Amino acid sequence: MWKGRFSQATADLVQQFGESISYDWRLYPYDVAGSIAHARAQVKAGLLTKEEFHKIETGLREIETEIAAGEFEFSIELEDIHMNIESALTKRIGPTGGKLHTARSRNDQVATDTRLYCRAAIDELLILLRDLRSSLLDRASKYAGTVIPGYTHLQRGQPVTVGHHLLAYVEMLSRDESRLIDTRKRVNVCPLGSGALAGSTINLDREQIAEELGFDSVTTNSMDAISDRDYIAELIFNLALIGGHLSRLSEDLILWCSSEFGFATLSDAHTTGSSLMPQKKNPDVCELTRGKTGRLYGNLTAILTAIKGLPLTYNRDLQEDKEPLFDSIDTLTLALKVNTEMIAAMTINEEVCEAAASDPLLLATDLADWLVKEGIPFRSAHELVGKAVAASVTSGTPLDQLDLTAVDPAFTTEASAVFDLKIALAARTNPGAPSVENVKKQIARWQE
Ligand code: ARG
Repeated sequence: MWKGRFSQATADLVQQFGESISYDWRLYPYDVAGSIAHARAQVKAGLLTKEEFHKIETGLREIETEIAAGEFEFSIELEDIHMNIESALTKRIGPTGGKLHTARSRNDQVATDTRLYCRAAIDELLILLRDLRSSLLDRASKYAGTVIPGYTHLQRGQPVTVGHHLLAYVEMLSRDESRLIDTRKRVNVCPLGSGALAGSTINLDREQIAEELGFDSVTTNSMDAISDRDYIAELIFNLALIGGHLSRLSEDLILWCSSEFGFATLSDAHTTGSSLMPQKKNPDVCELTRGKTGRLYGNLTAILTAIKGLPLTYNRDLQEDKEPLFDSIDTLTLALKVNTEMIAAMTINEEVCEAAASDPLLLATDLADWLVKEGIPFRSAHELVGKAVAASVTSGTPLDQLDLTAVDPAFTTEASAVFDLKIALAARTNPGAPSVENVKKQIARWQE
């Protein structure tokens, strides 16, 4: 299709090195849709008759069906999806097929296809994110009042609930949702009509094409439109950050499922065994989710590196945008689906949680707060409770059983009223804090 000026055949190695059909074939539904919209605009411009358009449309739809059925034979001599489809069309309908590429380049074509692909991918990801949040919400609501220690530095800190802990991930995934929705706005702009880099002397109705393809608007600078891959980098970043969130969740669940923590149990269907140690029940899904996040970050590095330093406009480097994109979408799609299922089937071991949460040290801060309410400055209160903790550690007497009045006269016997988990949790009523009432309100809000 571009061999007019060449007198030698392309070397085999160059073909192998340059082909993208082995992976960009999946753009075919978008390539077909883009071509049909482009052909329709040619009718309006008087470049194609209605009959010619009909032939092109029917031919393209047949090719699409063949590809979907796995019956289409792709050829690496034709490099990419665009030339494979166009060549098949001309074989099928004759010279009329050769009119399709009027006022179009593969440069605006590939940008159009990829934007349509990204838009469809975002729409599916939004559903998958919602499903995962539903699973988390379902568990959060079942265990809204199950108290566990909250950690900093992986050391026990203060009491929270399983519900509150899981809702933290709902928050993260909701930010991810809003980022995807925002990225979608920049994805959904139509570059078709930008040509190779400088538009065309043949003016097709770009607004009409954009509307047919469901784009919100058309790009306004042909050079930018051809070389812009920001929307891909943005999308891959979003996917990487979602992966990061899933990876943190995985790490929490791996800890929760260990004998040392024992807070949670994953279903047999979502865990795996060991070929050597008969007792093992491993959280492989969590580990793979954590591990695959590395690929998502790698893909982000790949796309950012591919686009840096490219002179305007199209350079073949840009073909390197697709594999990281497809890999990130595939990886995350499966990760979201399997995590959604796994979490829905997860059970929390409430007695183990209760035992861990009954550690009186979790309420050391509440004890300091009690002193503050008695009029002691917080810094002094912190130090006095620190002394009480030290006394508890050296004597081996749990903090809630220690004679606090012996530590410092600022404590009265009433201070030990602090060591009631229910009261302690119920007192945390400020917005964002983990009182069971608050958690239930948040669950209701998210459910809505
Ligand atoms: N397969 C190419 C890509 O993905 C399509 C555009 C080719 N353009 C060109 N001038 N060689 O980037």
